[in-house]
Amino acid sequence: MKNSYPIGIFDSGIGGLVIAKEIKKQMPNENIIYFGDTKNMPYGEKSKKFIIEKSIKMVSFLYEKKCKAIVIACNSITSNALEIIKEKFKKKILIFDVINPVIKNKIFFSFKRIGIIGTTATINSNFYIKNIIKYYHHLNIISISIPFLALLIEKGTNIKIMNFFLKNYLNTLKSIDALLLACTHYLFIKQEFEKFYHGKVHLIDIQTIVVKEIKKKLYDKDMLCITPISLWKEKIIFYTSSSIPCFFYKKVKCLFGKNVFINIHVI
Ligand code: DGL
Repeated sequence: MKNSYPIGIFDSGIGGLVIAKEIKKQMPNENIIYFGDTKNMPYGEKSKKFIIEKSIKMVSFLYEKKCKAIVIACNSITSNALEIIKEKFKKKILIFDVINPVIKNKIFFSFKRIGIIGTTATINSNFYIKNIIKYYHHLNIISISIPFLALLIEKGTNIKIMNFFLKNYLNTLKSIDALLLACTHYLFIKQEFEKFYHGKVHLIDIQTIVVKEIKKKLYDKDMLCITPISLWKEKIIFYTSSSIPCFFYKKVKCLFGKNVFINIHVI
C-alpha cells in the first residue's frame, strides 16, 4: 500500500538527520530513506548551478526508490533549488522543505527584531528576507552567513574551537529577540547559541514546526502510515555518497540506535 512507502529525506550530510529524528518522533510508523551527499558537502559554499545539479540527482534517486514524499532537509538547497525541484517533480511526488513551514508560522508575530544565520548560499540567495517580508511588515531582520560552520559541524570539530569561531560572528548579532538557525547542521549545536545569549534570545524550534506541517499534509492527503512497525521490522535506510564518514556514522548510531546500516551511493 502506498501509505507504507518511505519518506525520502536528503541533505548534504548530517543536518537532515535532525529532521529524520523528529519525523520518527512525531510519526513513528513511517519508513524513511535518508540521503546525505557527504562527498559534495558543504553545499553552502557552492554555486547555485552546482546545488541544483546535485539536488536533482538526489531527488531522482529517492523517487526511484518509490518514496511517497520527499523532504529537502537543507536550507542551502531549498533557497537555491526548490523552484526547479518543484518544476521537475511536483506532479510526480509530494515535496516538503525546511523553510516555507517556518516562514508561514505565526511565531514571527511575537518578535520585533530577529537574526537569521545560515550558509553563504542560503544568505546570498535572499530567500528568507524576500519571503518573510511578504508576511511580516513589522519585523526588523538581520541576516548573516557563517561560512564553513556547517563543515566544522559535519567533521565533528571540537566544540571549543567551534565556539571561538562562532563568537566572532554572533557578536555582530546583538539586540535581537529571536534567532533562526537557517542551516540544519546548526541544530546540532543549538545549546551553544543558547549559552551565548544566556537564554535571553528565543531560538525558533525549526524541526518541530517543519515536521508538524509534514504530518498535517500527509494526514490531509490520507497518506500517513497507520500500520505500526514492529521493532524487528523497524527500518531507516541510510545512504551517503562517500565512503562512510566516521562522524556521520557516529551521529546516525547515536540518534537511531546501534543496529544501523549505511549504504554508499555515489551521485
Ligand atoms: N545542512 C545544510 C543547510 O541547511 C548546509 C550544509 C552545507 O553547507 O552543506 O543549509
